[in-house]
Amino acid sequence: MDELLLNSFEELVPSRPVEHLGEADLTFDGRLSEPLKIWEDGGAVGCGGKIWIAGELLSRYLLDKKICQRGKIIEVGSGTGLVGLCLGLSLRKRTDAEIWITDIEDLVPLMQKNIELNELEDVVHSATLAWGEPLPSYAKDGVDVILAADCVYLEKAFPLLEKTLLDMTNKDTLVLMSYRKRRKADSKFFRKIRKNFDIVPITDFEDYNHYLKQRTHLFQLVRRTAPQKASEEAKDHLDQ
Ligand SMILES: C[S@@+](CC[C@H](N)C(=O)[O-])C[C@H]1O[C@@H](n2cnc3c(N)ncnc32)[C@H](O)[C@@H]1O
Repeated sequence: MDELLLNSFEELVPSRPVEHLGEADLTFDGRLSEPLKIWEDGGAVGCGGKIWIAGELLSRYLLDKKICQRGKIIEVGSGTGLVGLCLGLSLRKRTDAEIWITDIEDLVPLMQKNIELNELEDVVHSATLAWGEPLPSYAKDGVDVILAADCVYLEKAFPLLEKTLLDMTNKDTLVLMSYRKRRKADSKFFRKIRKNFDIVPITDFEDYNHYLKQRTHLFQLVRRTAPQKASEEAKDHLDQ
């Protein structure tokens, strides 16, 4: 990953304690009958090597609502692979879903290690997907679901993430994004993508208030059939 991006993230987001190094067993309060095993590298190759609260929220939501059960599902900025692996483990062999956990190249070995720890090689695949770059072949067509947990944190990366979301979606793509609010500048990302996506807050899940207290939110992004008109955009800004 761009050295600059890594350093900037660590400045913005305090590192989690060193205990985030090693193997964690997660059942999400009994939602998973067999625990998900996640190896965390303590941040050795950037912020993605640890589990973040927005990833926990999206994992719980997917387990409770059972809305992603089939088709091609791509998680972007997966880090450890938490969300995609959690989904993969809950579906196991009862699915024809094809799940991809993706991130910058440096994190692929960690994601692959976590696939193997959980013996999910048949259902979950790890790969590089660097935002803003041309899409790899597996992500070009027929993407049914995009998952993104805690991917909005660094202003420099906002246009890159926006491009990737635009390249991968059409009006039928289900996009679920969980997000921890850290800085006012994050709103620039949401204002910008509003031109092409309706941002629909999701509030009907257990522990909504718990996550709200931690400034952690869940949205569905719905691709507009036509970009928002300038007049509507101006009104939106006034509404904020
Ligand atoms: C805060 S971590 C979240 C990790 C994981 N989704 C979770 O919730 O535990 C943000 C992730 O975005 C990834 N990321 C940042 N910039 C990226 C880029 N340009 N292309 C692909 N991934 C990127 C980081 O490597 C990191 O894994």
